[in-house]
Amino acid sequence: MEHNVVAPLPWMKSPVLPVATISDVAHAVPLARALSSGGISVIEVVLRTPCSLQAIERIRSEVPDITVGAGTLVTPRDVDEAVAAGAQFLVSPGATPEVRGSMTESGLPALPGAATVTELMSLIDHGYEHAKLFPAESSGGISYIRALGSVVPHIKLCPTGGIDQANAPSYLNEPNVMCVGGSWLIPDRAALDGRWEQVSALAAQAAALAR
Ligand code: 3PG
Repeated sequence: MEHNVVAPLPWMKSPVLPVATISDVAHAVPLARALSSGGISVIEVVLRTPCSLQAIERIRSEVPDITVGAGTLVTPRDVDEAVAAGAQFLVSPGATPEVRGSMTESGLPALPGAATVTELMSLIDHGYEHAKLFPAESSGGISYIRALGSVVPHIKLCPTGGIDQANAPSYLNEPNVMCVGGSWLIPDRAALDGRWEQVSALAAQAAALAR
């Protein structure tokens, strides 16, 4: 058994795991505070921008109300850098043995990604009970999640990719869905214009979703 799930798991804190692409490090703290004031206490900062690691560091040190994780970890080096930046949990869009191994070695809660039954079976073999299902909408959406649930019901999913406030409730209704991930809470325009109250309002709507 490679992976021991330890409670409380960060992604279980909210029905929605906000996925944040931060292009200006000055946005990191106000963004995390806006989510927190809307009632969401977790954020996944994706390593897709030059300032993402610095953004994780800032959120970790300046917004203690938020549990900050790192996402889009596609190499073991990404994992090491995320850990060094202070990430409190790790998310990957897929799960190579190398990335999975690095995530396990870190000892942090890890949410590896999968898109197929075989990939989920491999995660189950390695002791995982939770996985990110990516890309959710383009892989087949709700009907795909149901088909997965009929064969691997014991692995709980965080579908991500193409989810928004409108379709999130249908996903959250599925018994094999524990939460959903998405970037819709953080519109690019709102961040660029510093309209943090808009992010708080979207966070409040997301936090109120039932699961
Ligand atoms: C991710 O990294 O999880 C996805 O890019 C988020 O997908 P979305 O932007 O469609 O929510």
